[in-house]
Amino acid sequence: MAVLVTGGAGFIGSHMVAELIENKMDPVVLDNLSTGNKKAVTGGRLYLGDIRNPGDLDKVFSENDIESVVHFAASSIVPESMADPAKYYDNNINGTLCLLKAMERHKVGRLVFSSTAAVYGETERIPITEDCPANPKSPYGETKLAMERMIEWFSRAGTLKYVSLRYFNACGAHPSGEIGEWRPFETHLIPIILQYLLGMRDRLYVYGTDYDTKDGTCIRDYIHVSDLVRAHTAALKYLEGGNKPEIFNLGMGRGFSVLEIIKAAGEATGMPVRYETAKRRTGDPAVLIASNEKAAKILGWKTDINDPVKIISDAWNFYIRNPKGYN
Ligand code: UFG
Repeated sequence: MAVLVTGGAGFIGSHMVAELIENKMDPVVLDNLSTGNKKAVTGGRLYLGDIRNPGDLDKVFSENDIESVVHFAASSIVPESMADPAKYYDNNINGTLCLLKAMERHKVGRLVFSSTAAVYGETERIPITEDCPANPKSPYGETKLAMERMIEWFSRAGTLKYVSLRYFNACGAHPSGEIGEWRPFETHLIPIILQYLLGMRDRLYVYGTDYDTKDGTCIRDYIHVSDLVRAHTAALKYLEGGNKPEIFNLGMGRGFSVLEIIKAAGEATGMPVRYETAKRRTGDPAVLIASNEKAAKILGWKTDINDPVKIISDAWNFYIRNPKGYN
């Protein structure tokens, strides 16, 4: 029996494929390679195609004995979503609708969905529990929330069982250094620091030093991609056990400021990290920290890697081995 990984050539999807292989499971990848790369797919069968194309989905489902789907295929850059919401409504919501219809046609009833902390927007309570009101501040967060709700309604109407996983700041890389975080257009803090250290960027900016935090910079919950994908395996087992649909936060449960991450990058790489300060980036909440208690209690999952220096060391290892990414 196989597991379909949509978006399996992207950052987290490719680590999921590696995780499934390490667990002697059988991944099948469907990816349109719009941001992913086929070199990131280290095993299983890769289909080049688009989840918005029912024919591509029918081919994958009819040629493989798929029992579960892990759904990553989506556009996921917050600033891009502000500039081009149509892309996000089409790729994310329309794409998920096409996937759910194909799962119904092919009688596949288990889904692990890649959601995001962006559904919360800015919350009144920290750490953020799953019952905090969702109030997304970007088309990215809005479409992910709509995808979660679409999945919920399909589940209520039929036989679909699902787990939605709301990731905080995914980072790090596979310990082998073979796969890691690489996008054609980068906005995330850790890869930007590493690209700067490799001379691929002229400057490193810290966006906002006047937040109401311990050092004035934003605080985030950084979660190593290895811990993240392990939670997906736990979610697949949870669904196999016939358990009811659930939503879980995935985070370390601890927050680090931008300046703390820059300091950790200096330790991880052994290089001085020079930065300049700049004004706040629009839409950045001051503090996002997950409560991960629900995932611990119900999935029996917690993070193994709780040190940003280790997280950045793994990311650095990938960058050193692949300074041009997958190109
Ligand atoms: N930052 C900088 N300089 C940079 C890049 C980022 O100072 O060059 C800062 C940001 O302003 C922010 C922090 O580093 O304060 C983290 O920024 P990232 O872009 O790495 O991550 P975000 O917290 O903005 O994004 C994460 C997820 C998104 C999700 C979002 C929800 O990666 O998928 O949280 O707010 F949508």
